[in-house]
Amino acid sequence: MEKIIINGGNPLKGTITVSGAKNAVLPIMAASLLAEGPCRLMDIPRLADVTTMSEVLGFLGGRIVPEGPQEMEIDCSEITSVEAPYEYVRRMRASFLVMGPLLARVGRARMSLPGGCAIGTRPIDLHLKGFAALGASISIGHGSIEATAPELVGARVYLDFPSVGATENIMMAAALAKGVTVIENAAEEPEIVDLANFLCSMGARVMGAGTKIIKIEGVKHMRGVTHGVIPDRIEAGTYMVMAAATGGDVLVDNVITDHLKPVVAKLAEAGVQVKEEGSGIRVRSSRPLCAVDIKTLPYPGFPTDMQAQTMALMTGAQGTSVVTETVFENRFMHVNELKRMGASIIIEGHSAVVKGVPRLTGAKVKATDLRAGAALVVAGLMADGETEIAAVQHIDRGYENMVQKLQAVGADITREERDGEECRLCD
Ligand code: EPZ
Repeated sequence: MEKIIINGGNPLKGTITVSGAKNAVLPIMAASLLAEGPCRLMDIPRLADVTTMSEVLGFLGGRIVPEGPQEMEIDCSEITSVEAPYEYVRRMRASFLVMGPLLARVGRARMSLPGGCAIGTRPIDLHLKGFAALGASISIGHGSIEATAPELVGARVYLDFPSVGATENIMMAAALAKGVTVIENAAEEPEIVDLANFLCSMGARVMGAGTKIIKIEGVKHMRGVTHGVIPDRIEAGTYMVMAAATGGDVLVDNVITDHLKPVVAKLAEAGVQVKEEGSGIRVRSSRPLCAVDIKTLPYPGFPTDMQAQTMALMTGAQGTSVVTETVFENRFMHVNELKRMGASIIIEGHSAVVKGVPRLTGAKVKATDLRAGAALVVAGLMADGETEIAAVQHIDRGYENMVQKLQAVGADITREERDGEECRLCD
């Protein structure tokens, strides 16, 4: 079994270049189902999840042609199936994002229900609420869900929670609906804006993306276009935390600073020197950091996808930090693994109380989900001695070449075969 091995203590120094955003490219790939011609996507990150989405689109009749290391052409002119089988949805919940575009393009979609996973039950009720509002008939049975709609008609949809996926799925379904759709209490993440820009360049009429009210005027046809994906703000934040955790001096390059405001603010509050520099952000830290409280919220609040990594940073800060997770019901799977490395953490409901300790010690630990795995890398870089991280396939889902990027800035980190057990993928 492949594992990541880290000998901690090296301050990271140099430049790390951020790849395209996983959580932008996945909905954008799904949206290519709406186009009657080929789309060319650029700045694509090489991630396991991108491979999975390519397989899903291929199963539906899409033709995916890699065009170099960070580019691909996706041609969904011919859709030959409306069903995404269980094996894909089990592997990646984001497969569910093909439902909206399939409904819009061919009036039918069938897929297995995305099960829950390590970070929560991950329901889809808000996606279905939107599809039903647009006139789709939904039937659920035998672990599958089928939606049919001879014609989608624009409607007003209020999201009880600003769900990113539901906002994206409804936007894509509404793009070819008859009339106007208004999504209220929509998610405001930058990835929503990137998807909306892609949809508009294909000929859709989407207004208000990035705010709580998104209006979509349905059109009859959408064409293939070329689109470059935005940089990954969570990957960028993760490397900023790693630079701070090791007392390093790193330029995290290819970032949109505006997307990182809550992360920059929290790191600065903890005593990290953070400064815009060219197309990146330079992160320096030299003294023990101050403990700061973290509360995750939908964008523009502090991102839940940065919670685990920042908690790992706080395990070595001076003082006590309270980390509150408000977005997912079970996103503290990394706590037990961090405690195996000497962290002092007590979970109280939706909060984790983190008391800073002078040093972590390396240990054998296991990634339970994508960001928990990243948090263990943060901890391993900080710890005395060797840390061995199992189930690294979770990390491969969202971080392109993490080991190589860290080796290039002085981390003592490798990937090697060591005995270990299989692990189920999800989220
Ligand atoms: C997206 O997941 C991201 N994934 C997640 O990133 C991210 O953590 C999440 O948004 C929140 O920002 C992708 O974009 C591919 P949600 P998504 O729907 O769309 C509840 C990572 O690490 N909810 O905004 O699945 C849900 O249970 C991944 O890169 C409903 O109740 O997230 C959760 O508590 C992990 N009903 C909350 O909303 C629904 O119908 C947020 O979920 C849908 C969601």
